[in-house]
Amino acid sequence: MRMYEILAKKREGEELTKEEIQFFISGVTDGSIPDYQITALLMAICIRGMTRRETSALTMAMEHSGDTVDLSSLPGIKVDKHSTGGVGDKTTLIAAPIAAALGVTVAKMSGRGLGHTGGTVDKMESIPGLRTALSREEFFDVVRKTGLSVVGQSGNLDPADKKLYALRDVTATVESIPLIASSIMSKKLAAGADKILLDVKTGSGAFMKTQQDAEMLAREMVEIGRSVGRETIALVTDMDVPLGNAIGNTLEILEVCQTLRGHGPQDLTVLCLELASNMALLAGAGDTIESCRAAARKALESGAALQKLCDMVSAQGGDASYLQHPETFSRAPVKHELFSDRDGYITHMNAEACGEAAMILGAGRIKKEDLIDHSAGIWLLRKTGDAVRAGEVLAVMETAEERFVAEAEPLLRSAYQIGSQQPERRPLILKRIAKSE
Ligand code: URA
Repeated sequence: MRMYEILAKKREGEELTKEEIQFFISGVTDGSIPDYQITALLMAICIRGMTRRETSALTMAMEHSGDTVDLSSLPGIKVDKHSTGGVGDKTTLIAAPIAAALGVTVAKMSGRGLGHTGGTVDKMESIPGLRTALSREEFFDVVRKTGLSVVGQSGNLDPADKKLYALRDVTATVESIPLIASSIMSKKLAAGADKILLDVKTGSGAFMKTQQDAEMLAREMVEIGRSVGRETIALVTDMDVPLGNAIGNTLEILEVCQTLRGHGPQDLTVLCLELASNMALLAGAGDTIESCRAAARKALESGAALQKLCDMVSAQGGDASYLQHPETFSRAPVKHELFSDRDGYITHMNAEACGEAAMILGAGRIKKEDLIDHSAGIWLLRKTGDAVRAGEVLAVMETAEERFVAEAEPLLRSAYQIGSQQPERRPLILKRIAKSE
């Protein structure tokens, strides 16, 4: 088999066979296919697309390109949860403990933030002592003890995706539904859960800017899960506005604590309850989505979910007293308020610009190797739909040095559009896709 022929076939829009896709992924993984041929095929896929059969074959080949995790020795039905990424998205640290409090086994690998989107592992590492790099045995022990563990992705999981993603990032080939679907699902399948809940984001802070594209991506991933016997549900949810009020690692942990105490922002609370209810339904912890919703609300209100998170944090070496007394977290020395310059309503927010402003303040990284400042970030006091008066505070920036504020402030200001008409509220949960169509 020759890569040249595979390229020519995809250039003409023909369907690749499973063997050709396997040949491609083996060559990506062992380095025998040069980058120029890999990127030529990625671009051809971007332009010509892939059939569902091709996307499934690509996913499976990537899943088996490195280590896979066998969770079968752990008790119960293991349910994973994945968000396609956004700004202020701390849902894993709320929804997973709620689900675990309902008896769902959650043994989960999460990522770090890159660009304008944050990552769960970075947020977790703002909790003093908490370890996210556990050996396989330690990871399993935490799950056996508490029913919940969230760790960083292990070394050799899906190496083909690592290589492909790095090349896609610099060749304008990220925006392809078959490439995104196979990238996400190959990692989820390799991570070993029995069932998968996906939160597919759409809007200004998401990869998928339109609801139509987000639904197509969600359907593709639900179908991949079905085709390999791992039941998958996808919620398509709004990311036109940052989720909750906190952006930045420690600040988001403070908001996790508020939410698990029942005092969180409404959008974040509603979404986390819905995610946890769907995880519970997938695990068979309730017969209907309605009974799972009622149980999830109870687990939140009773404090059982907060206790689950504390148990996990302690079991992973962290100091859970910070979650009980969030005022003890160390905070950034510089606090700078952003004021509104007029009366009106916030008609639109650019969530991506908010994420980028937080990154400039120190909360995120531009390159993988960059260090982050866990205490840096933004509190949004006003969001889309809110009324505001001239001179009122829209947001508070927290950072290590004034010079970061000078750079971040214009960007954060540009993220707010203020007009005279109150905009219609967009629904937060736009669609639930539970079987392939
Ligand atoms: N997240 C991934 O893991 N892969 C993509 O291609 C896009 C988002």
